[in-house]
Amino acid sequence: MTTAAPPSQDILKPHLAIDGGHSLQGELKVSGAKNSALVLMTASLLTAERLTLHNVPPLTDIDGMENILVSLGVKVHRRSETVELEASHLTSAEPPYDLVNGLRASFFAIGSILARMGYAKVPLPGGCRIGARPVVEHIRGLKALGASVSVEHGVVTAAVPGEGKRLKGASIVLDCPSVGATETILMAATLAEGTSVIENAAQEPEVQDLANLLNAMGARITGAGGPTITIHGVEALHGCEYSVILDRIEAGTFLLAAAITRSRLRVAPVVPEHLNAVLQKLRDCGCELEIDGDGITITPGTIKGVDITTQPFPGFPTDLQAPFMALLATASGTSVITEKIYENRMQHVAELQRMGAAIRIQGSTAIVEGVPSLSAAPVNGTDLRAAAAMVLAGLVARGSSQVSGLNHLDRGYAGIEAKLRACGAVLERHLP
Ligand code: UD1
Repeated sequence: MTTAAPPSQDILKPHLAIDGGHSLQGELKVSGAKNSALVLMTASLLTAERLTLHNVPPLTDIDGMENILVSLGVKVHRRSETVELEASHLTSAEPPYDLVNGLRASFFAIGSILARMGYAKVPLPGGCRIGARPVVEHIRGLKALGASVSVEHGVVTAAVPGEGKRLKGASIVLDCPSVGATETILMAATLAEGTSVIENAAQEPEVQDLANLLNAMGARITGAGGPTITIHGVEALHGCEYSVILDRIEAGTFLLAAAITRSRLRVAPVVPEHLNAVLQKLRDCGCELEIDGDGITITPGTIKGVDITTQPFPGFPTDLQAPFMALLATASGTSVITEKIYENRMQHVAELQRMGAAIRIQGSTAIVEGVPSLSAAPVNGTDLRAAAAMVLAGLVARGSSQVSGLNHLDRGYAGIEAKLRACGAVLERHLP
């Protein structure tokens, strides 16, 4: 592959060199869901028995969560995509700042640490490039369950008042359907005394996956996947074996890889119902989709502009906003993309512009005028999904692009270059 010389500062960073313009064929394999696996791992804190999780994707975020759990005394064994977790002797309720910082899902462990140990001290996850991402709802939920919670010097301390006492079931109405808050409260409430009800709960498939796991561990939860979740508290949970759901965001990214390269591809395994909003937009912009059992075959036609507004599930997911924008940058006509979940999730726009995309931003809306072709450039993925968008754009841009920001990409896409290469993409990782 011939690589155009990138500016000197870019050649020093790890990057993917992508030779654009090759069509893809065959099948792209989808891994287990990162966002589910991370939270399911923290559920191991709720029992002294062994929890075995299958279909856990090999990602740097999973390494991070393993380190956090080990710091609390959990014994962790990983073999390929199976993780065994045993929290029989917890030695700490205080994950260290260095490990928690940068892995937002680790904050959600506060619910399970508190329920199991009666006390938890967890650093705030901090700001994030895509938005402020508060944890007010998580804290409000724990307080409703009877915990005393204080936030000082950037650390949240939560305790169940009274020696050997349990949290108490309560009704909680979330101000916004936060995924993390729903999961935190769900885990805490499983071991509470009495019944809890979470209203305006997040309906994401990952919440449902967590509830399914907890039920397999002996919890009594109904309604997960809908806006009202009821949890009848139990005294203890037991171990089990469980397989993590498929990653709907990775699946969506792969469908977009097919669409942007105008290639017919099969993406599998997937749960199509988890992707309804995304599939609808792909159809609207001119792709034909065939759903067969656990796979989707996509045949892109002439791609037309469509309008997208991100929303909580079952609406269009914010995590596919940047990747879908890469596709629409190559569509015929105009698209209007509105980001409603995060206040700062448009950083990929400047990078797409470097590749020749015609995009204007007005507040949290991007107006995308499709162009006939993108041109290769050194670009930076500023967050996980922005990095995925850059890879997609690189697959179709004329010439050789250098996509940096691999520290972000590796958090959420397991072996992405090997998967794409197996379908005919031409790309190589460079680690200076
Ligand atoms: C999860 C996902 C992330 C996805 C997001 C939205 C994980 C590990 N990450 O993140 O990939 O982008 O859902 O689908 O599962 N909010 C508040 N107050 C709160 C909590 C949240 O206002 O106390 C707001 C946030 O600022 C944001 C919205 O709610 O605007 C959604 O956030 P939330 O659902 O909490 O996202 P996460 O669970 O952190």
